[in-house]
Amino acid sequence: MRVDILTTFPEMFGAGAGAALNSSIPSRARASGALEWYATNIRDYATDKHQKTDDRPFGGGPGMVMMCQPVWDAVNAVEAMDPRPATRVLLTPQGRRLTQGIVESLAAKPRLLLIAGHYEGIDERVIEALAPMELSIGDYVLSGGELAAMVLIDAAARLLPGVLGHEDSASQDSFSHVPTGAGTARLLDCPHYTKPRDWMGRSVPEVLLSGDHGAIARWRSEQRRSRTLERRPDLLATLPDPDNASSSG
Ligand code: ADE
Repeated sequence: MRVDILTTFPEMFGAGAGAALNSSIPSRARASGALEWYATNIRDYATDKHQKTDDRPFGGGPGMVMMCQPVWDAVNAVEAMDPRPATRVLLTPQGRRLTQGIVESLAAKPRLLLIAGHYEGIDERVIEALAPMELSIGDYVLSGGELAAMVLIDAAARLLPGVLGHEDSASQDSFSHVPTGAGTARLLDCPHYTKPRDWMGRSVPEVLLSGDHGAIARWRSEQRRSRTLERRPDLLATLPDPDNASSSG
C-alpha cells in the first residue's frame, strides 16, 4: 500500500530514529515493502511569492484558513505520481469517528492520500471539490491532522499482509470481530500475563498455567466479554456481519 500525506508540517513525519512511523510495526511494514509512505509539503505547491498556504477567514474571526489552490494543486500533483487510484481522506475533528472497521476497509486499499489540515481548517470549497472521506480520531481538537494521520497509518500498517509476526495477532486485538450468538461484535482484549508467576503477592490466573488449551481459550473469551460489558457496553450492541457490510464501524 502507498500512503501520501499532504501537510504544511512534513517535519512531523521526519526520518529520525524515534519518529512514530520509523519505529515498531510501521517501520517493519515499510522495511518489508508492505507499506510505502511519503510526506509532501503543501507549501511546495503555493504559487504566491511568499509560498503562502493560508489566509484570514472571510467574515472575520480568529485563526487562519488553508487556501484552496495549494491544497488542490498538491493533491493533483501527488495523485499523478502513481497510477493506482488514491482514496482521499481528510483528517478533521468534523469527520466521522475512526473505528477499527474503517481502518480495516482503508488497509485494503492500494493507495491512500491523507490531507492534514492545520489552523482553523481548510477552505470549504476545496473540500467540496476533492470530496474526501472525512475522519476524526476522537472528540478533541489537535493542532492539526498530522498526528491523526499517523494514528491511521499505524493502525492500518499492522493489518497489512505479512506485517505482524504471528498469523493471528491482529485478529486477537481489541476490536477485532468475535462471533456472538446473534452475529459478530467487536470486543476488548483479555488480560495478559508473563513471568514471574508471582509478583508482589499477585499470582497469575491458575487456568493459564494448566496447559489445557480449550480451558484457556474459554477463559480468554469470557474475559473479553466481561471486560467489554464492564468497560464498553456500547460495543456489545450487535454489529452487522463484517462479510456483509462494507462500511461497518
Ligand atoms: N485535526 C484536529 N483534531 C483532529 C481530530 N480529533 N481528528 C482528526 N483530525 C484532527
